[in-house]
Amino acid sequence: MTLLSNQAFERLRQIPLYVPGKPIQEVQRELGLDSIVKLASNENPWGPSEAVKARVVKAATGSRDEGLGLYPVSDGYYLRLAIAKRRECNADQIILGNGSSEIIEMAAKAALLGGGSTVAPKHSFAIYGIATQTAGGRFIECPCSPTELDVDAILAAVQPDTRAVFLGNPNNPTGVMLDRPGLERLVRDLRDDILLVVDQAYAEYEDPETYPDAADYLDERSNLLVLHTFSKIHSLAAMRIGFGIGHHKLIALLERIRSPFNTNMLAQVAAEVAVQDFAFEAFSRARNAEARQAFFAEAHNHRCNATGMGGNFILLESEIPAPELFKDLMRAGVIVRPMQGYGLPNHVRVTLGKPEEMEAFWAAVAPILDNAGCGCR
Ligand SMILES: Cc1ncc(COP(=O)(O)O)c(C=O)c1O
Repeated sequence: MTLLSNQAFERLRQIPLYVPGKPIQEVQRELGLDSIVKLASNENPWGPSEAVKARVVKAATGSRDEGLGLYPVSDGYYLRLAIAKRRECNADQIILGNGSSEIIEMAAKAALLGGGSTVAPKHSFAIYGIATQTAGGRFIECPCSPTELDVDAILAAVQPDTRAVFLGNPNNPTGVMLDRPGLERLVRDLRDDILLVVDQAYAEYEDPETYPDAADYLDERSNLLVLHTFSKIHSLAAMRIGFGIGHHKLIALLERIRSPFNTNMLAQVAAEVAVQDFAFEAFSRARNAEARQAFFAEAHNHRCNATGMGGNFILLESEIPAPELFKDLMRAGVIVRPMQGYGLPNHVRVTLGKPEEMEAFWAAVAPILDNAGCGCR
């Protein structure tokens, strides 16, 4: 068939498919289990906040001026104003995306118009590579250990045709972070014609006093885009909304790529409340820190190798191949994320959930490791 032998489709077939965390309903359907704990997609189990939920209900059931029958504000002006207030910048420095993944795609399309390559550390968020390749670019994964983000390796991987560098800080799935001196070096030493995309999807989980925010360098580097999402600490993953901050001229260019009405009205009003909800953020950050500490204590008890200091997730290494451990845990009613597709064949990523969810996780994983006679590494 002509359609299937198309050259572009052949190239598309070479691009890896993004494999999302398995939804609870799917596992229920497949395995007939009633009680399932999902720790697979780094969602925040504590939210969204009551204030956000009330605002969504009001908007969904509201007057004709704000109702579901109208198109949303195409560029999300009012949300951009609220974000700009919080971030102490101007609304023309903000772009909204249908999740920050969409802004990663916009950045790749913008930077790669006319070809070229992008660079990201090995073991990074899969969308960096997928967005690059679907934009027609070449993706260069620089060698990086899962326990460190190496600025020298990133800079050394850059080629004459490199148009963008992606960096998750903290990085998903490894949970490693670049400190301020490292970030500063990347901002200053990366060729200035290259778009540096710093993905701060998990930034709000870090201590605001010490977190090295890439937005602090926007005056120094105009080729810098800083990404945030409402899917993580704000617990709005189902709404699909995220934002990018950059120089107003960069944002104006990205606006040429953004699809009209890309973010929906309910997401815009929900995020407008969430971005000002400091109390919910602080609450979630504190619960996450407790869950992290408890996880490392349990991992120590079970002689498991657990790593990752940032975000709301932990990487767990065992002697059982990741796809096998993933399936065994699923049969026991716990969904985690196997990491073989991220160059980590013996790791699963575990999202930090509520105490009772973590109890269910350890109750499921301990006998599996014992039965395999291996424990963790
Ligand atoms: C590092 C990183 N960036 C971006 C995203 C995308 O988030 P969303 O598209 O839901 O905003 C994720 C989601 O898991 C992520 O881990």
